[in-house]
Amino acid sequence: MKIAIVGATGAVGQQMLQCLEERNVEGEVKLLASSRSKGKVVSYKGKDLVIEELCEDSFNDVDYALGATENDITKMWMPWAQKNHVVVVDNSSAYRLDKDVPLVIPEINPEDIQKHHGIIANPNCATIIALVALNELKKEFGIKRMIVSTYQAVSGAGVKGIHDLEAQAKDPSIPSTAFPYQIAYNLIPQIGDFDDQGISKEEWKMQNEGRKIWHDENLLVSCTCVRVPILRSHSESIFIECEKEVDVAKARACIEKAAGCQLKDDPQNKIYPMPLDTTNQDDVFVGRFRKDIADPSGHSLSLFCCGDQIRKGAATNAVQILQELLK
Ligand SMILES: NC(=O)c1ccc[n+]([C@@H]2O[C@H](COP(=O)([O-])OP(=O)(O)OC[C@H]3O[C@@H](n4cnc5c(N)ncnc54)[C@H](OP(=O)(O)O)[C@@H]3O)[C@@H](O)[C@H]2O)c1
Repeated sequence: MKIAIVGATGAVGQQMLQCLEERNVEGEVKLLASSRSKGKVVSYKGKDLVIEELCEDSFNDVDYALGATENDITKMWMPWAQKNHVVVVDNSSAYRLDKDVPLVIPEINPEDIQKHHGIIANPNCATIIALVALNELKKEFGIKRMIVSTYQAVSGAGVKGIHDLEAQAKDPSIPSTAFPYQIAYNLIPQIGDFDDQGISKEEWKMQNEGRKIWHDENLLVSCTCVRVPILRSHSESIFIECEKEVDVAKARACIEKAAGCQLKDDPQNKIYPMPLDTTNQDDVFVGRFRKDIADPSGHSLSLFCCGDQIRKGAATNAVQILQELLK
């Protein structure tokens, strides 16, 4: 069996290779990227793998592919993969909302994987982190409406975003390549283009993708997405309005049993989720639970969560889907 990583030199692609090794996924691995990376060597399970240039024939000997390229590049190579009956788990947003493409978080809707027609999409990274944190709370209290503010790490914009922050932290006059403004010592309340209502593409994703993953067309999400000068791990401040009256002790118990979550909620002892603590591991940390005082009905809860968006928000989630396919 052969697994290709398409975009193997990027932030997500490199992490995918590490996840395949950590999870001891069986099969040969083929690494594909642009002509810029052709011939570079990376180590995998104690052996050297050479990066190949992506071309139309790249998929002739491939069974499964993990996609980690931008939308335009993904749309270019997907027909080549489909022609060769390759099953693709894709990280771009190119196919996420297509009717015959399952959008999957294995902790939430693994049963959707089997409905695929050759493509399974990995959801948006901030959406994965929020939904993993909220899934058991949704079962317990019934979430009607969410208001979310994100604090998104620069690596969410790929390798270029990491380079911008590292360079500007030393010399703020270095121009950004991944962002519209300087990101070091700053934050930017824009991720993606705005529509004529003033809502950015990234801000639409949590409602659109959340509805598909949870199979809940009534879900309402208002989101403000902000890029912050953090290298890795997204953070999210979340308000949920629920069908039932909420209870903080019950909410904590939900997180204790939730797959992929760790409860970090003892504020008096300075215990709460922080992005440095979630960096380079797979769990979403959840805490800062309190009944929201802006809703006297007692049906609303506020919380804070963090998760490594290159791992659980992208590579780990994709490799988990692949492992489900291989079962
Ligand atoms: N970063 C995150 O936290 C995150 C989270 C969730 C989803 N995603 C999504 O995952 C995808 C990858 O993101 P990323 O952050 O890893 O981006 P990235 O660091 O910029 O990496 C992009 C990858 O695409 C390759 N590539 C570019 N042009 C190509 C071409 N013409 N042919 C073949 N390969 C080409 C690059 O290869 P070269 O090195 O050779 O240029 C590189 O391997 C995107 O769709 C992104 O939206 C990212």
